[in-house]
Amino acid sequence: MASTNIESHERNRASWNHAIVAHNSHKVDQHLFFKNKGSTLFREEMDLLGNLAGLSVCHLQCNCGQDTLSLVTTLGAENPVGIDISDTAVDFATQLAKDSGIDATFIRSDIFEYFNTAEPDQFDVVFASYGALNWLSSMQKYAAGVSKILKPGGRYCLVEFHPVGYIFNPDMVHEYPYSSAGEPIHSEDGVGDYVALSSTEDREVMPNLTYAEGIKDFKNSNPSTEFCWGLADVIGSMAETGLQLSHFKEYPYSNFYKIYKCMTPEKVKEGVRWCFDGPMLPLMYSICVKKPLLA
Ligand SMILES: C[S@@+](CC[C@H](N)C(=O)[O-])C[C@H]1O[C@@H](n2cnc3c(N)ncnc32)[C@H](O)[C@@H]1O
Repeated sequence: MASTNIESHERNRASWNHAIVAHNSHKVDQHLFFKNKGSTLFREEMDLLGNLAGLSVCHLQCNCGQDTLSLVTTLGAENPVGIDISDTAVDFATQLAKDSGIDATFIRSDIFEYFNTAEPDQFDVVFASYGALNWLSSMQKYAAGVSKILKPGGRYCLVEFHPVGYIFNPDMVHEYPYSSAGEPIHSEDGVGDYVALSSTEDREVMPNLTYAEGIKDFKNSNPSTEFCWGLADVIGSMAETGLQLSHFKEYPYSNFYKIYKCMTPEKVKEGVRWCFDGPMLPLMYSICVKKPLLA
């Protein structure tokens, strides 16, 4: 497997900085949404995380902080810590927390730099979701970092798009490897405007969060680099570092993100999930691993 690739991470930082402006241009009055105890979390991660009251919580690759704030409004987390490499994401998240009157701490950092400098054994719960792992250049370093910052007895919860779903392009042509074994996959187009591409006809991003036209036909001027991580890469790295698997599930739909052009939307209480009408394809998975208590 490849080692940490700071160059590709920094390229992604610039690409995310640009894309986030487009993403947020489609979501208006987000602070009012959170002041009214709104939540961007889906059932899958809520069930996995459970009640977070009284627990120390870290949200890795927190993007603009909407899910981080939802951990507070919905699951009772107190001052969760969100980490993200993007300057615009962390600035936005910090302002959104302030405007919403919600306590949360946001840190701008490459995840691997954060793991290097963070105090060990800090968090009861570490959480990541939806389009996180594909930006990271090493699963082994990721698993070791997660293990480092978890308290003994603490748990890591992940809800992620499935590597099988990622092998097809939007036209459902098999274009990408199931696992690239740490080899980078470059895109000159950079991070796209998946918020616009996943919008439904009734123009609701989430219940009570309306989709706005915002920036049209967004083109990112910064290329990006991704990595394909198969389930063996993810779960194998967790196991190698001593984390113990306590939950694993696959789902035949994709929350929020329209992966293929042919998908049809299905309304659920928390928002929209996108379905594929053909034979069952796993499109998301969730795992929970625990750090063993010290002997
Ligand atoms: C698709 S978003 C994840 C969405 C997130 N689950 C949420 O709560 O909205 C991916 C995020 O990963 C961040 N990211 C990418 N590479 C990173 C790295 N090396 N270190 C930290 N964050 C990174 C990006 O800036 C982006 O905000």
